[in-house]
Amino acid sequence: FSSGLLAGKRVLITAGPTREALDPVRYISNHSSGRMGYALATAAVDAGARTTLVSGPVNLPVPEHVQCHRVESALEMLEKCQQLVADCDIFIACAAVADYRPAQVQPQKIKKGDDTTTLELVKNPDIVSTVAASENGPFTVGFAAETRDVLHYARSKMQRKSLDMIIANDVSDSSIGFNSAENEVTVLWPGGEQTLARANKAAIARQIVELIANHR
Ligand code: C5P
Repeated sequence: FSSGLLAGKRVLITAGPTREALDPVRYISNHSSGRMGYALATAAVDAGARTTLVSGPVNLPVPEHVQCHRVESALEMLEKCQQLVADCDIFIACAAVADYRPAQVQPQKIKKGDDTTTLELVKNPDIVSTVAASENGPFTVGFAAETRDVLHYARSKMQRKSLDMIIANDVSDSSIGFNSAENEVTVLWPGGEQTLARANKAAIARQIVELIANHR
């Protein structure tokens, strides 16, 4: 790993979960810790990149020399990324964006009532696809958390979302990936793939940054 790998490059990374408000006190979210995205930000800084995070709510310190923009919802994350994407060379979408949000955010706390209730949800925009579709866009990297046929689904996700690279995660193994300290991933790009053996997220992040530097 060389500290000049991404010298002068600008890297934008999304990290953490999003929170989709239901009313002033409730939201829909997920268990993403943000650790992989923050580790990638640290690795990008170490590789010499000017590094920016767009982060959902997490309990992690902002790595040194990283500019961090905090957001809550998928819509806020998209808006912030669209503001920042013109000034970046590499975009890494590590955030666990909620697929859906409540169709309506109630202005007052929802009251308990019937024994059953239903929530109407609407699809969130796909942030990484939106960035990948932009003209003269950055080198765009996504993640694919899958529980089966991991590499097959990851490769088709890369194609469907027009990504330059995708990091495939087998989330059926709870000792790695989502909300754990270690990870084991396969990095895929249009012409090949490389599996990174189980290691802590800092080590995985440095190898991912190295592969990005070599393939962009
Ligand atoms: O389609 P799926 O959610 O499995 O795709 C995962 C990849 O897409 C991740 O890189 C994630 O950050 C990104 N994504 C996104 N916006 C969404 C959903 C996923 O950027 N609304």
